[in-house]
Formats: sequence, C-alpha cells, structure tokens
Amino acid sequence: MEDFQHQLFIVIGALICFSALLRCIRFMKYIFPRVWSALPQAFFRSLGEWAVVTGAGDGLGKAYSFELARRGLNIVMISRTLEKLQRVANEIEQATGQKVKVIQADFTKRSVYESIEKELEGLEIGVLVNNVGMLHNPLPCRFLNAPDVDENLINCNIISVTKMTQIILKQMELRHKGLILNMSSGLGTFPCPLYTMYSASKAFIRTFSKALQAEYKEKGIIIQVVAPYGISTPMTMHQKPGLIVKTAEEFVSESLHYVTFGDEICGCLAHELLACFRQLVPLWVLHSDRLQEVALQAFTSYLKKRWRKS
Ligand SMILES: NC(=O)c1ccc[n+]([C@@H]2O[C@H](COP(=O)([O-])OP(=O)(O)OC[C@H]3O[C@@H](n4cnc5c(N)ncnc54)[C@H](OP(=O)(O)O)[C@@H]3O)[C@@H](O)[C@H]2O)c1
Repeated sequence: MEDFQHQLFIVIGALICFSALLRCIRFMKYIFPRVWSALPQAFFRSLGEWAVVTGAGDGLGKAYSFELARRGLNIVMISRTLEKLQRVANEIEQATGQKVKVIQADFTKRSVYESIEKELEGLEIGVLVNNVGMLHNPLPCRFLNAPDVDENLINCNIISVTKMTQIILKQMELRHKGLILNMSSGLGTFPCPLYTMYSASKAFIRTFSKALQAEYKEKGIIIQVVAPYGISTPMTMHQKPGLIVKTAEEFVSESLHYVTFGDEICGCLAHELLACFRQLVPLWVLHSDRLQEVALQAFTSYLKKRWRKS
C-alpha cells in the first residue's frame, strides 16, 4: 500500500512538472516570438493585396489599419463615421503609400452587408480583422438594469463577425490562403457577471472562431481569436496605459507577431500572464454576490470619475 502511494505521488508530481514545463514553453514563444516563429517580412502581403478592418475609425481598428498598411497591404476601412474614416485613411495613405478605401456602415443594422459585398467585389483580400464591437453597458450592472439594446449588441458583436466572414472566406478558400482575426475579449473567456451580454457575445466569437479554424485549417486559412484585457481606446475611455493597459498601437504591433501561434491568443505577453492569474481564481469566487457588490460600487465610481475628467 505504501509503495502504491509512493508511486502515485511520483506520477502526480511528474504530471504537475510536465504541465508547468508546457506553460513555460508557451511563454517562451511570447517572449522570443522572432526566434520561435519569425514571420518573414512579406508574410502578410503574401496572403493577398488587401486587408479589411471593421470598426476601423478609432481604437484597435485604426491601429490594425495602420499596422497592416505598414506591412504592405492596401486597406479597406469599414466603420460608422465617414469623416473620421476619411481623416484616418488620408493619414495612412500619406504615412505608408498604400491605397485605402473607406466604407461607411453601421454594424448594428443587418441591412449593410449587400452594399459591403458589392464594394469589396474584385479585391484580392488576404486579411480580415473582425474588430468592431460594442459594450452593452459601459458601467457594470445587473442584466435587468442594463439598457435595452440587446439586438444592437448581437448585430454588432456577433452578426458582423459571421456575415463578414461569410463574404470574405469564400475567396480565401479558392486561393487557399488568408488570415482572419476575430476580436473577442478576456471577459469572453469566462462567464463575467455585470457585463453578461458583452461576455456572452465575446464567448460566441471564441467558439465560432475555434470551430471555424478546425474546418478551414487544412485549406491554408488561419483563423485566430484575439482575447485581450485592457487597451487604451475610446471604449475604455482612454484608460492610462501602463504595464497591463496597452496603447492600441503597442498591442496591435505585438499581437501581429503571434498570428501563427494557434487558434487563440490574448495578443500580448502582459495579457497572457494576466489570463494565467485569472485562471487561478476559482469561478465561485468571481461569481460570489459579495465580490459583485464590491465590483459594482468600486468600478462604477472609478468609471464615473474618469467620465467627469474626460
Ligand atoms: N479596448 C479594450 O480594452 C478591449 C478589450 C478587449 C476586447 N476589445 C474588443 O476590441 C474591439 C475594438 O475595441 P476598441 O476598444 O477599439 O473599440 P472602440 O474604441 O469602441 O471602437 C472604435 C471604432 O469602432 C467603431 N464602431 C463602433 N460601433 C460601430 C458600429 N455599430 N458600426 C460601425 N462601426 C462601429 C467606432 O466608430 P466611430 O468612429 O463612429 O466612433 C470606432 O471607429 C471590440 O470588439 C472590443 O470588444 C477591446
């Protein structure tokens, strides 16, 4: 009996060491991406002539548009406010010399896809960034106290991803190459109370992306879900950047090194570490009523202060 216990402890110890080793290897990939899996300079351009970015007028979408243009792609920017789009498009054209086409569309409406499809006709699209997304409730709140815009949120966060993918994946399949980046969120990696609708919509994107990657991997198409935590953008009221909160430019330029790192990434090393710590906290703690009450009060007053300042 004693012998058996001894053997059992050795096996459990070996398994723990093995899983720690796997984690270390995973982090080494993020620390030394250029050594581990260096992408050739022409990688993004080799996928096609154009990149399409949704929600491209500001925040992460604007940063993706700039960064992909710097990497040699022409850009189609799709977003809600035409003046903003035109201003950013001019900046990108002047800074990079790439062509930029703008399409005005509000993704809370389901009627926009016919005209988007027409505008994209004839373009060889190598990269699609399904970036557009909205928060159901900027301030944390319980479901019944949240604003009643469920349909807008579903259209913007879910339908936009499926429809844009449907339009563009067809031609990627024919050419046997392409990259689709789908923006989820750290809040979509677990059922996050007080942001229930947002968390659920981002969980949809994770499942959709991973299942789709399994279907199209063999056809040479990379589909990756990106699940970051805090980034300083209009959505987060331009939170002050620091160790955890990244600027949109920092985040995008780092995350593009990792597009071949598997079907899901957080997008930057700091957020990968944060995700590891988050996983150490059991769900019953995150879901406890007491923690929700504390979060409701502390986070609401923090956000309101930031609003007043901005
Ligand atoms: N920021 C973060 O900390 C964070 C963390 C995790 C995940 N994400 C995800 O990353 C994505 C981008 O986030 P972000 O922070 O850059 O967002 P953001 O700052 O709110 O979005 C900026 C852009 O999206 C456009 N947009 C918003 N709603 C639209 C709609 N209905 N139709 C068309 N365009 C629309 C805006 O248009 P206008 O120019 O008209 O304003 C703006 O150009 C989202 O999917 C978000 O959920 C963000």
